[in-house]
Amino acid sequence: MAFTGTRAVPAAAAAAAAATLRGAPVAEPREAIRVDSHLDGGQERALADDVLDGLTRPFKELPPKHFYDARGARLFDRICELPEYYPTRAERAILEQRAGELAASTGAVELVELGSGTAAKTRVLLDALHAAGTLRRYVPFDVTESMVRDSARRLTAEYPGLQVHGVIGDFERHLDRVPRAVGPRIVAFLGGTIGNFPPGSRRRFLRQLARLLGDEDFLLMGTDLVKDPRVLEAAYDDAEGVTAEFNRNVLLVLNRELGADFDPADFDHVALFDREHEWIEMRLRARRELRVNVADLDLLVHFDAGEELRTEISAKFTPERLTGDLAAAGMQMAAWMTDPEALFALTLSQRS
Ligand code: SAH
Ligand code: TRP
Repeated sequence: MAFTGTRAVPAAAAAAAAATLRGAPVAEPREAIRVDSHLDGGQERALADDVLDGLTRPFKELPPKHFYDARGARLFDRICELPEYYPTRAERAILEQRAGELAASTGAVELVELGSGTAAKTRVLLDALHAAGTLRRYVPFDVTESMVRDSARRLTAEYPGLQVHGVIGDFERHLDRVPRAVGPRIVAFLGGTIGNFPPGSRRRFLRQLARLLGDEDFLLMGTDLVKDPRVLEAAYDDAEGVTAEFNRNVLLVLNRELGADFDPADFDHVALFDREHEWIEMRLRARRELRVNVADLDLLVHFDAGEELRTEISAKFTPERLTGDLAAAGMQMAAWMTDPEALFALTLSQRS
């Protein structure tokens, strides 16, 4: 501050300086950002429950939300850049083509995004809403704390006047913590994440989503489409092995959070398209017979040689299936948008 000489320090700058001393971000006025966290301890319990439940079954299974610790989130970002992983590029292409229209037809003043991650593609939508002059607030909602905080900081700096109300939580448990609407809004659920729910919970989740929508609100959802299994399997088993690394990362999460003693090198990454269910399954296959101790749970887990642990499904959709799922949840499709190669779909829906 010595360089400011005799000039009076403006109040905002003084506040910013005080904020720096407290370790708070200074790139934006403090009131532009609010972040609520609902995870305190609860997520560890949820992980413990899921592990107890999933690793003691005849067919071992873990839900995919535990992939995304800070390392998992970084690996996922690399997946999105891989030549084999087309969904991110396809969804971005659709957004780039349609964002203007979406802004105009919805008149949205806010964007709520579930599973927002790094919010990379979100900027396309924010740009369009900003250009339309309606944009007031962005609500990123993610289970990964660093993602929510970083995007709040970046986006308030990039979009002057934008309010960011971040929610750190589990969208399967904390959807009711989404703040009340400040006007017509778009609830975005991108990246095909809806496909990661098993069919029963998918419809239950869609019903909860429908309850978030008022009369003027829209759900904007990204879904991957059924296609050649070779294309699908390559997207989940890339040549560089990033997806394999991502898949094994969940074992490191269990080691750290629950004192387990998994050696990721004991497991092979498996990705295959189940034609009957039309979903990709990711699994971890034990290379030899194993005994794994999960210390915090007093749980000893046995794996036969070749036994598989299912870590994720990623459902692929047809327009019919999606229409059916939406209808079952009390929603109606207002627009179906695809990329030129029809690899991926973005749909806009309203409560019916
Ligand atoms: N929307 C981004 C990221 C998709 S990856 C994109 O399209 O590229 C899925 C994201 O959802 C991750 O950021 C992950 O942390 C988040 N996520 C997964 N399960 C979640 C849950 N149960 N609650 C909240 N966020 C979740
Ligand atoms: N929602 C993404 C999808 O199903 C998540 C994802 C992409 C993913 N690639 C992955 C999850 C690889 C685990 C491993 O496409």
